This record gives sequence, C-alpha cells and structure tokens, in this order.
Amino acid sequence: VLALLRGLAVHELSGGPFSEVGGIAWVSVAQNDLDNSLDRLRGLGYTAAVDLIVPIREVKKGERSVVTRWRGSQVALVNRWSEPDSELRASAPDRRGFLLECADGVTRRIDGYRGGAGPLEHRALPVEDARLLVNLVSAEAGSRFLDPFVGAGAVIIEARSRGLTTTSLDVDATLRFGLAELSGHHAVGDASALPFADLSFDAIATEPPYHSSAFELLKASIREAARVARLGARIAFLVASKQADDARKTGRLAGLTLEFEAAVDRKGTAVSCLCWIRR
Ligand SMILES: C[S@@+](CC[C@H](N)C(=O)[O-])C[C@H]1O[C@@H](n2cnc3c(N)ncnc32)[C@H](O)[C@@H]1O
Repeated sequence: VLALLRGLAVHELSGGPFSEVGGIAWVSVAQNDLDNSLDRLRGLGYTAAVDLIVPIREVKKGERSVVTRWRGSQVALVNRWSEPDSELRASAPDRRGFLLECADGVTRRIDGYRGGAGPLEHRALPVEDARLLVNLVSAEAGSRFLDPFVGAGAVIIEARSRGLTTTSLDVDATLRFGLAELSGHHAVGDASALPFADLSFDAIATEPPYHSSAFELLKASIREAARVARLGARIAFLVASKQADDARKTGRLAGLTLEFEAAVDRKGTAVSCLCWIRR
C-alpha cells in the first residue's frame, strides 16, 4: 500500500477498526490526496476491498457501509472499492488470448497460453503477483518501464494499465507477435546482455526463470538491470526463494540498495520478491 501511494501524504496507522482481524490494514491519507489515493488503490494486489472511515453523518444514501466504534465515537466504514474474485479471475492468464508463433511457423491466438514445457519457459504470472511487482517500482505515468524476462506479458499488461511507457524483452522469438501487441516496444534478446543504454529506465520489474540452471543468468540480469536503471529507479525481481540469497548479494555488489523483501506463496512454490533502489 505504501509503495503504491508513494509521493502522497500517507502514513501507516497502527490500529484502526477491526485491526485485530487478520488481513486488515489502515493508512491515513491527507484530505487533498484522498481521491488520488483511492484511484491508485484500485491497483492493489491481494486485496478484496478498500474502505474509508467517515463520520456517520457523512454517509450518503445508497453507500455500502458498516457502523462500528473507533476512537470513542461511532464511525462508518464506507466501501470505496472492491474486487470480487470473479472479476480478478476474468483477467487471469488462463482467460487471455496470446498471439504465438507455433512450431509449424504459423502464428495463432492461443487461449490461456501458459508457456512451454521447458524449465525456462513457464509463463503467465497471476494478475495479483504482477501488480505487486509494478506497485513496488511504480513510477509516474509516462515513466520508462522495462520487463527483461517478459514471457507472456503479465507484468507489462499491469504496467501499461498504469500509463507507464513499456519496453519488454525475452529470448524466445516465438513470443514476439504477442508482445508486439501488448508492449510499447518489444525486443528479442538476452537479459544478461541488454541492448539498452546505461541509465535508460525509470523502473524495472521482472520474473526470471526459477530453475536452478538459471542461477548465473539471474545474477547477470540483475547486474544488467542495475546498469540500465537511472539513478533513483526501482528494480523488483520475483525469484524462487532458493535464488534469493544470490540475488540479494548480486544486487548489493551491483550498487543497489535493498528497499523491500517479502515471501510470496505462489500456490506452493516458495517465491521471494526483492525490490531495490538504484543510488
Ligand atoms: C518465468 S518466465 C516469465 C513469465 C512472465 N512473468 C509471464 O507472466 O508470462 C521467464 C521468461 O524468461 C525467458 N528467458 C529465459 N532466458 C532468457 C534470457 N537469457 N533472456 C531473456 N529472457 C529469457 C523465458 O523465455 C521466459 O519467458
């Protein structure tokens, strides 16, 4: 939440209505930044609803609200945004079509494309995990954003929906038609030798292959991300937890400062999300 609202007058509240219930967190937002905050919070991952605490007398007719006591008075929790599972499911990778060059050389739109069977070819990050990556590095609309292991484009779809100027790269040329549709600019290439100038991106977020054969590739790609990121840019990598130590060390040696690290349970796959800032 705090990453997504970066730059606005926002701070974490310890406590708040129902905060004894797991999974509920509150932030305080300056009145002037309220509309902007509510707008950005639509991009939160792992979140079913956003409520606003208002005095009961300010609840408007027809607003969905729950009344409770907080700080000695009665308040209403007014629902300002919610995302039912069914809506999230509707934009999931298995509901999307992806333009793929097939083995016979013909390009077809494949519904629910999830990648090939090879250890480096698993694709289609869930929407919520893609949102996490973009939120952590989130930059102003128009910022130059890169995903250097783009796969079937889940992260790029999120970044574009926030108005970022997207560049993507993947070594697999069969993805190029699909990505030409999804990404502002797509290149077929190697994330360990990026074809981009130093300091050319404001934000980078990506999901390299988790397989053990990709350890050296992962390290080289972190060094490359550090090279092409401008000073002050944020870089987020979603890696297998067994790769996290190496990733952390490589980032430090590449001059990156780790700002955030969290474990993500991808339905049984232990994954870690690391976010650095380039200083
Ligand atoms: C875990 S997948 C990324 C999935 C992506 N997040 C998605 O939602 O579809 C890793 C991607 O890295 C690509 N890849 C493997 N080696 C690469 C390299 N050396 N340079 C760039 N991309 C590479 C694979 O083709 C694959 O698409």
